[in-house]
Amino acid sequence: MRRFIVAANWKMHFVLEEALNVARDMAKDIKASVEVIVFPPAVFIHPVFEIFKQTHLKLGAQNIYFEQKGAFTGEISAAMVKSLGCEYVIVGHSERRHIFSESDIEVHKKVKAAIENDLKVVVCVGETLKEREQNKAFDVVERQIVSALDGIDLEKVVVAYEPVWAIGTGVAADVKTITQMHNFIRELVENVPILYGGSVKDSNAFELGNIDNVDGFLVGSASLKSDSFSNIIAAFEKAKGVGSA
Ligand code: PGA
Repeated sequence: MRRFIVAANWKMHFVLEEALNVARDMAKDIKASVEVIVFPPAVFIHPVFEIFKQTHLKLGAQNIYFEQKGAFTGEISAAMVKSLGCEYVIVGHSERRHIFSESDIEVHKKVKAAIENDLKVVVCVGETLKEREQNKAFDVVERQIVSALDGIDLEKVVVAYEPVWAIGTGVAADVKTITQMHNFIRELVENVPILYGGSVKDSNAFELGNIDNVDGFLVGSASLKSDSFSNIIAAFEKAKGVGSA
């Protein structure tokens, strides 16, 4: 059976009180039949867990370090986020790859560390505008997926296709581009949920949710408010014909 997931990536937004307010609103507003995961900044995971524990909302971390433990000042391990109640972790987000120069090798090590600690992983892949213009989009995505998932049990894996040029721009990739890439990814990872990310909002969620191999969304900016995030979930459920929407 296909698994549908809508996820919120809060990135480096909010101070404590703001995060708690949004978490409380989401706990109240969201009645989804699809899986909903929220990825708060690591420092807010514990208090958000306290708010979510009576709900169906799941928690994840935006990043981990691949070592189990030790002298790695400032880093956070898979076991640590697991112990805070996280079920998921995002690995290889384009901001990690491009701003923090994370390599395919590091991404693979992080995926491995997450799985070893019984976390599920959202592996992000996607080409830059330059790579797309040079007709390298499919090669780049294939390389990122093959390298990240080498020897990994796919049971615990979710892939998120996030073209770098569509993230945070307000302009999502078009239906044709997403359809082609998701069909291509489906050939590489048959039974894995494939999310789309990059400027998903309430106005395009229904149209994008209608694409066959789009199994959900990873939402940034539009997940910072409970109402826009709830609207995206409702539009996605309507597109897939699930839930009460
Ligand atoms: P965006 O971010 O929705 O703000 O484009 C998506 C993401 O980076 O996951």
